[in-house]
Amino acid sequence: MTSVHRDQPHSASYFGPQRDFWWNRDYLELLARRWRLEGVRSVLDVGAGVGHWSVLVASVLAPTASVVGVEPDPRSVEQARRRTREAGLAGRCSYAQGAAEALPFEDGNFDLVTCQTLLIHVPDVPAVIKEMRRVTRPGGLVIAAEPNNRASLLVATSADVNESVPARVERIQFALTCERGKVALGEGNNSVGDFLPGLFAEAELTDIETFINDKESALVPPYDSQEQDVLRSAWLDDAAKRRWIWSREEARRFFRAGGGTEHDFDRIWQRRMNEVDRGAKRLEAREFHTAGGGIHYIVRGRRPP
Ligand SMILES: C[S@@+](CC[C@H](N)C(=O)[O-])C[C@H]1O[C@@H](n2cnc3c(N)ncnc32)[C@H](O)[C@@H]1O
Repeated sequence: MTSVHRDQPHSASYFGPQRDFWWNRDYLELLARRWRLEGVRSVLDVGAGVGHWSVLVASVLAPTASVVGVEPDPRSVEQARRRTREAGLAGRCSYAQGAAEALPFEDGNFDLVTCQTLLIHVPDVPAVIKEMRRVTRPGGLVIAAEPNNRASLLVATSADVNESVPARVERIQFALTCERGKVALGEGNNSVGDFLPGLFAEAELTDIETFINDKESALVPPYDSQEQDVLRSAWLDDAAKRRWIWSREEARRFFRAGGGTEHDFDRIWQRRMNEVDRGAKRLEAREFHTAGGGIHYIVRGRRPP
């Protein structure tokens, strides 16, 4: 795996307030009922980041259930502890430093081992699933919430409604080349969610069930709710920072590793920035709308008793 120097914690640019609107709480409660999670007492959240998933999972379990989050970046661990204190959950959620490939826990330690948008960042997904299974008690559950990020490239907005077929194909080809480069660099497959049910089966997990998060990130003028305001600000913030999925430097690294040329990169990136500017202008004018579709799977498997 390539070692990447980071001024900021891994995924920091994805930890904005929009992450608080990723799930409908009643849908998670429904899954908790379907999967009979009322008996769960101990949970491990792998790749916990700043604790968004840990807190959400804790909130749909019995009040006696506790969640431990494991995260390699000490700055994120610190932030997760702070956020959890602020949410009044410090007694139920705690955090430790550690890597998914070598979880610092004994075999069979947890009733439930879970992760969200972790497996899209690891080089060896089967090895991490195996490790998650190891620390799950016999009969306990492994639950992964991971996307196919590629699907959202086909979702249109009011700003690109007249885009030509070649322009759309170029955008998709660019993103696929970057995705492929990310895999080649050992930094994970952004659309790994497609493979998880099969990989759970290969890891000898049973009772596998797959659902899709029923929440989308629609943007609808005049954006007059707290969620709409947060989503709109996130789009505008990305535009101000000149980001399109990734920063320019990240995208260049992935594109080159995926087989793209330097010359093509500059040309195509400029078009992405033109798109970002067009979208931002429509947002400022309150004319931008999209249903914001994506695929965010949630996959459950059981360690056999
Ligand atoms: C996109 S964030 C997801 C954070 C959190 N699960 C959530 O949904 O809010 C991915 C997190 O995985 C962590 N991560 C990356 N590689 C990891 C590894 N090999 N082991 C454990 N965590 C890792 C990163 O540091 C980052 O905090």
